[in-house]
Amino acid sequence: MKCSRRVFVSRAGALLAGGSAAQWLAGCAAATAYRVTPAGGQLQLDVASFRDLHSTAGIATVQPDGDDVPIFIVRQNETYTALSAVCTHRGCTVEAKTGRFVCPCHGSTYSATGSVLRGPAEHPLRRIPSVLRADGRTLVIEHPRRTAAR
Ligand code: FES
Repeated sequence: MKCSRRVFVSRAGALLAGGSAAQWLAGCAAATAYRVTPAGGQLQLDVASFRDLHSTAGIATVQPDGDDVPIFIVRQNETYTALSAVCTHRGCTVEAKTGRFVCPCHGSTYSATGSVLRGPAEHPLRRIPSVLRADGRTLVIEHPRRTAAR
């Protein structure tokens, strides 16, 4: 079982706020994530090299080096969207399930596009600015630490 310090602290806070211990422990289970190294305030990904993005409704979990919170890359046909994994309710790290995202702390559920399907969260997952280059395979994502400071 792996649980980063930030995730541990955020989940402990959510636990104190009413989440269950079982949800909390389940949420700390290690998730498979692709490691990427930020450079110049950006993450550059070759989407063709991510097996999870080979299907037209794929979701890949990306873990920037030095960050505690992953981001999700969602493919919808030939469009890619980067979403923060930070739950908009109280900041736990949401997990990718089949075609949706679920928060282990209080059960908020988000669609593949980040919209709230079930609360208590009231706001969608934050979209992280990204652009697909003309080559159709290089996705350039603004490093979340930069966007979070705005
Ligand atoms: Fe409460 Fe996610 S932190 S539902």
